Amino acid sequence: MAELEGFEFGKSDFVLLDEVTMEQFLENLKLRFEKGRIYTFIGEVVVSVNPYRQMDVYGKDAIDAYRGRELYENPPHLYAVADAAYKAMKRRAKDTCIVISGESGAGKTEASKYIMQYIAAITNPSQRAEVESVKNVLLKSNCVLEAFGNAKTNRNDNSSRFGKYMDINFNFNGDPTGGHINNYLLEKSRVVQQQEGERNFHSFYQLLRGGSDELLKSLHLSKDPTDYTYTSPGASVSTSSSDDRSCHRAVMGALKVIGFSEEEVSSVYKILSTILHLGNLHFETDGESVQVVGGDSVRHISELTDTEPESVNKALLYRTVATGGGEVIEKGHSEQEASYGRDAFAKALYERLFAWIVGRINSVIEVKNYNPALHGKNTVIGVLDIYGFEIFDNNSFEQFCINYCNEKLQQLFIELILRQEQEEYHREGITWQHIDYFNNQIIVDLVEQPHKGIISILDEACLTAGKVTDTVCLDSMNHKLGQHPHYTSRKLNPTDKSMEFHRHFRIRHYAGDVTYSVEGFLDKNKDPLFQDFKRLMYNSSDPVLKEMWPDGQLSITEVTKRPLTAATLFKNSIIALVDKLACKEPYYVRCIKPNEVKSPMLFDDARCRHQVAYLGLLENVRVRRAGFAYRQPYERFLQRYKMTCEYTWPNHLMSSDREAVEAIVVQHGFEGDVAYGHTKLFVRTPRSLFTLEQERAALIPILVLFLQKVWRGALARMRCRQMRAIYKVMGCYKRYKVKAHFWEVERRFASVRNMTDYGKSVEWPTPPAALMQFHKITQHLHRRWRARQIVKNIPPSDMAEVRAKVAALGALSGERLDWGFNRAWERDYLANARDCPLTSSNFVRITKELKNKDQYSQVLFSGFVRMLNWFNNTKDRALLITDKHIYRLEPKKHFKVQKRIPIETVTSLSVSSGTDQMVVLHTVSQEDVLVYLQSGQLGPKQDRVGELVGTLCDHFTRVRKVHLPVRVCSTGLQVHMSGKPKSITMETRPGQNTADFKKSRGGFTLLLAQ
Ligand SMILES: Nc1ncnc2c1ncn2[C@@H]1O[C@H](COP(=O)(O)OP(=O)(O)OP(=O)(O)O)[C@@H](O)[C@H]1O
Ligand SMILES: [Mg+2]
Repeated sequence: MAELEGFEFGKSDFVLLDEVTMEQFLENLKLRFEKGRIYTFIGEVVVSVNPYRQMDVYGKDAIDAYRGRELYENPPHLYAVADAAYKAMKRRAKDTCIVISGESGAGKTEASKYIMQYIAAITNPSQRAEVESVKNVLLKSNCVLEAFGNAKTNRNDNSSRFGKYMDINFNFNGDPTGGHINNYLLEKSRVVQQQEGERNFHSFYQLLRGGSDELLKSLHLSKDPTDYTYTSPGASVSTSSSDDRSCHRAVMGALKVIGFSEEEVSSVYKILSTILHLGNLHFETDGESVQVVGGDSVRHISELTDTEPESVNKALLYRTVATGGGEVIEKGHSEQEASYGRDAFAKALYERLFAWIVGRINSVIEVKNYNPALHGKNTVIGVLDIYGFEIFDNNSFEQFCINYCNEKLQQLFIELILRQEQEEYHREGITWQHIDYFNNQIIVDLVEQPHKGIISILDEACLTAGKVTDTVCLDSMNHKLGQHPHYTSRKLNPTDKSMEFHRHFRIRHYAGDVTYSVEGFLDKNKDPLFQDFKRLMYNSSDPVLKEMWPDGQLSITEVTKRPLTAATLFKNSIIALVDKLACKEPYYVRCIKPNEVKSPMLFDDARCRHQVAYLGLLENVRVRRAGFAYRQPYERFLQRYKMTCEYTWPNHLMSSDREAVEAIVVQHGFEGDVAYGHTKLFVRTPRSLFTLEQERAALIPILVLFLQKVWRGALARMRCRQMRAIYKVMGCYKRYKVKAHFWEVERRFASVRNMTDYGKSVEWPTPPAALMQFHKITQHLHRRWRARQIVKNIPPSDMAEVRAKVAALGALSGERLDWGFNRAWERDYLANARDCPLTSSNFVRITKELKNKDQYSQVLFSGFVRMLNWFNNTKDRALLITDKHIYRLEPKKHFKVQKRIPIETVTSLSVSSGTDQMVVLHTVSQEDVLVYLQSGQLGPKQDRVGELVGTLCDHFTRVRKVHLPVRVCSTGLQVHMSGKPKSITMETRPGQNTADFKKSRGGFTLLLAQ
C-alpha cells in the first residue's frame, strides 16, 4: 500500500477505501485529481487520470526516488509500475508486460513514453555505447511512429490511429539489447476522409508545412494543405503550424538517428506526395470513356513512383480481369469505380508505408547476434499502448474492430487479475468470499466465434459471389445472433428508435452499448485493391516502393486465392497479441479521461463513473482487498527467505517446507497477515514481504562474506595440503640427493687408502646445495688425512726439512717465484763436502769449537754469502745461523767469526719476489743483516732463500714460540744499517757475472746478472 502521502491528498491506494462503492471511489479519484495527484494504486495496478497540464513529477529526482524501490515505498506513479516490471524481469528473469488501457485521450501514449523514458534512464549505468544506441532508437521511434500513425481527432489532438505493442529485450545485466514493435490496424480510411474537425495523419501537414522549399519543389507540392483534397478539410483545424514545422524537423532527425538512409527518407516523402497528388485526381466521362482530370498529377505521380505515366493512367482507369477461360481482358472503370480505386490505392499506399516504416525500425532494433548460451536469458518487457474503447456518434467497422480488441484485453485482464486469482484461492483451499464480476467472454465469443460470430458472418458475406450488400449481411447477423443477449438491432427490437432499420446493429459491450452502422462494413472488411495498382507499384524502379509491394509480382491469372479479410487479419493479430501478453507477468495502467474538453480543472463525474465502471476498477479493488498481494510456493518462499530465520538456515529439520515457512512467518510475527494454501503461502500485505526482503537484503552481504570466508578457508587448506605435499616430495628428493652424494663419495673414495696419491686425483662429485659445507669439511678432512698419510711416511730425519718447507710455504705465501722446495734442503752447506769440497772440512772443525764455545745445539743454516762489510764494501763471507746466534765468518781466515748476534734479536725477514738470493734479517738494534746467498757445487742455480726463510720461521715458531714475519717485496727492500734506513733496489745489468751490491743514492743497488 502506497504511503508517504498525507490523507489530505486522498487515499493513495483504493484498497484503503472505507467502503468499496462507486461514490467513494469517485470521491477519492476526484480529490486526488484536484490535488494534483493523478496516479492512484489498486495494489499493483496504477489508475492514471489525464491531468491535461504539464506535471512536475517526471524529472531526474523522481526517477531516482523510484529506482529499485518497492511499489509501496513511494507515492503511486507510473515509474513505480515500470520499476516493478523491470525488477520482476531482472530479479526473477520473468518476461513482463505493461498494459496501458483507457479511452482515446486518456493518456495512454503519454504514459507509455514516460515508462520507456524511465526504463531508459535506469538501465545501462555503465553507458555502453551499443546499449545507448538501442535506447536512443527505441525512444526516437516514438516520434516517427506518432508522425505517421497519429492524427488530431475530436477527442485527442495527438490520437494514436494504430495499436502499438513494443517488446523491449534485455540481456542478463538488465540492459536493453533491442526490441520489436507490432502495429495493429492503422485507421487508413483517415487518409482519404476525416470527420468534421479532424485531420489527416500528422505526416502530411508536417511535410507540407515543415518541408523545405527545395524538397517541396522536387515533390511538386505547394506549402498549403488546402491545395490537396486529402488534407484540405483538416487544414483549418486549429493546431499551430509551427508545431508541424518543428515536428517535421524532429522526425527528420529521428529518421536519421534510427538509421534511415537518405534514399529511404526520400522514398517516404515521395510516397506521401504521391498520395496527396492522387487525392487531387478526378475522373470525368464523356459518356463513353472515363478520363483522368487533374492537371499534371499523373505525371507527378509517375515521376514520384518511378513508373511510366501511361501505366499510372492505365491503372487508374482500367482493371485487368481474368475471364473464366483463362483469358485476360482489360475492363474500363466507371467514374465511381475509378474514384473508389484511387482512394483504395491511396489508403493502401499509406498503410504499406506505415508497415514498412515499422519494419524498418524493427530491423534496426532487433536483437542481433544473440546467443543464449553466451548472453544468458533474454528477457522482455512489453508495453502495450492500444486504442481505447470508442463510442462515436457514427460507429463503423474501425470502431467495431477497436472495441473487439478492447473486449479481448478486458478478457485478458479478467483472466489474469480476477478469475485466475479467485480460482487460485479456491485451488489452494484458502477461505474466500467470491466476488462477482462481469465476464465478457460472451461478448468476445459474439464477435470471434467461428461460424456464428460477427466476423465469420462478415467473411461469409464477403465470400459469397454476387451482390451481397451490407444490409443483406445485417439480415444474416440478425438471423444468426437474434438470441444473443449482447446483440440487438432495430429489427430485433423495433421499439428502440435510436437504431435505424437495415442500418444499425448494437452490441452490448462490457464498456457500454455501441450502435454500429453496417454501412461500408463489407467493403472495409474485403478491403479490395485492384491488382493493377499492386503490379504498378511492384514494377516501380524505386527499390523502397517495390519492396512494399511484393504481391504485385503475381500476374492476374495467378491471383486466385482470396486474401484474408481485414476483420480476420485483425482478429488473428489480436489473438496473437493476447497470447503474447498472457505468457508474461502483467502490470496494468488504467487511464481515465477526466473530461471531454481537455481541461486540467474539470472532473466530469458522469464520464469518470462510466470509465471506472467499464474498466472494472471496483471489482479490481474488491478482489484486491479480499485477496493477498503475494503468493509463492512454499519451497520457493523458503529458498528465498530461509536465511532470515535461525530454524531454517541453512537447512531446516522440520517435516515439511510448509512447517519451515511457518517458522519464518512466526519469527517475524506475520501470523495474522498470511494464509497457508495447499502448496503456497499467501501474504496479504506487501509490507510483510517488504520486511522480509529488507532483512534478506541485509543478510545477503553477510552470507556472501561467510561463503567467501569458507571458500577462502577451503582454498587455503587446499593450498596448504599442496605445499605440504610439495615439501614432502622435496624432502624425499633432498634426502635422496644427499644419500646419493654420500654413496657416490663413498664409491669414489673407497679405495683411496691404497692409491699412491691417496685419492688426490679423485674428482669430488658436485654436492647438493645442502651439503656444501659438508663437502668443504670432507674435502678438508680428506686433505688432512692425505697429509697425515704422507707425513706419517716421512722418516724423522727428514722431518726438519719438511717442517721448514711447510714454514717457507706459509711465509712466502706463493709470492716468491722460486723457493727451491723441490730439492733436498741440506741447510749446513758450508759443512757439506759435496757443496764445498775445499772448505768443508775446515769449517766442520771450526764449528765444533764454536759449538762448544757458544753451546748451540743445531746449525740452522750455513753458506757462502756476498755481503757488505763495515765500510759498506761488498765482500764474500760465510753465514752461519745456529739456534743461538747468527755469525758472520771470514772464509779466507779459517772462518773466523767477524760478527755474532743472538738469534732472538732477529725481528723479521725481507726477501724479494724474484729469483735473486737476497735476504734481509731485520734486527731489534736496526743493524740489519743484508746478504746475498751464494750457491756451491750442489747446484749453481739453487735457490736457498726459501730454505733460509723456512728454517728460520720453523725454528722461531717451534722453538722460540714466536712468529717471524716475512716480507716479500716486488720492488725494493728497506733495511736499517747502523740504525739508518736504506733502500735496496735491484737492477739487472748486462755484463754482470755475479750478483753484487753497489752503493747507490739512498742505499744500495743489487746488480743482477742477466
Ligand atoms: N501525464 C500527462 N501529463 C500531461 N499531459 C498529459 C499526460 N497524459 C496525457 N496528457 C495530455 O493528453 C493528451 C492525450 O494523451 P495521449 O495521446 O496519451 O492519449 P491516448 O490515450 O494515447 O489517446 P489515443 O487512444 O487517442 O491515442 C496528450 O497529448 C497530452 O496533452
Ligand atoms: Mg495514443
